[in-house]
Amino acid sequence: MNEFNTTFQLSNGISIPSIGFGTWQTPDGETAVKAVTAALKNGYRHIDTAAIYQNEESVGRAIQNSGLSRQDIFVTSKLWNNARGYKKTMAAFEETLNRLALDVLDLYLIHWPAKDGHTKEWQELNLSTWRAMEELYQKGKIRAIGVSNFLVHHLHPLMEQAEIQPMVNQIEFHPGYMQEEVVQFCKEHQILVEAWSPLGTGKMLNHETLKKLAAKYQKSVAQLCIRWCLQNGTLPLPKSVTPERIIENIQVFDFEITADDMNTINDMAYFGGSGLHPDHVNF
Ligand code: A2P
Repeated sequence: MNEFNTTFQLSNGISIPSIGFGTWQTPDGETAVKAVTAALKNGYRHIDTAAIYQNEESVGRAIQNSGLSRQDIFVTSKLWNNARGYKKTMAAFEETLNRLALDVLDLYLIHWPAKDGHTKEWQELNLSTWRAMEELYQKGKIRAIGVSNFLVHHLHPLMEQAEIQPMVNQIEFHPGYMQEEVVQFCKEHQILVEAWSPLGTGKMLNHETLKKLAAKYQKSVAQLCIRWCLQNGTLPLPKSVTPERIIENIQVFDFEITADDMNTINDMAYFGGSGLHPDHVNF
């Protein structure tokens, strides 16, 4: 994997650029437009947003102004939790498309699973949401569909009833929090794992082991973490609003982490997840 901006292939055959530009916590307006513009100018071809980030309009504007062909940019958005269920999903999707000013979305994800304790009918709720996503996919309004923050016990019941299996699961994934069980499950079921917060929202950057390893490759810790995601077969979504960092974070195709060093990172103990567990979040 040494060429600039390679792709992964989803289970339906669609190619997805192997690094996505994250926009969680990127403020709407000029900041978001500038960040996405800088990303597209510097080679990113995959932008990840969500209804709840409230920056879809700005993401859309940066895409329209980029001068790039629509088919050269892969755009992901996510359905927020207040829009679960068939009808609301249909309406929320339309609103997302309008805000992004797009006719077709490349990837649409259920942002968080409905879960036990939240409602007794959590499985039915996830399924009715999924039915809408399947229909939009079949109509050609979305090129790929998936989920986010789903653990194995959320995926299982959905996959048993699904006509179309999820193609992606976007989860928190970085050297401080590796979620081995769900990652393994996804690999076994041809679900691409996307890594949100591949830098642990910045918490990875001062870890001594990572600093030593990064120095060995003459790379930054951020670049090491992003490359580590790729070599583990996951798709990193680094976020930045800083032009130099935006550029730095995609310069990860000119080095390779050795198997020994991959093992060293893979064997690191938990040291800093966000704490946003899908069964315990209250949103
Ligand atoms: P900023 O957006 O101000 O540039 P994650 O992608 O894991 O959520 O991490 C995002 C956080 O890490 C943001 O605070 C971002 O800051 C910071 N960040 C992103 N890229 C780098 C980098 N290459 N070096 C240092 N910090 C970075």
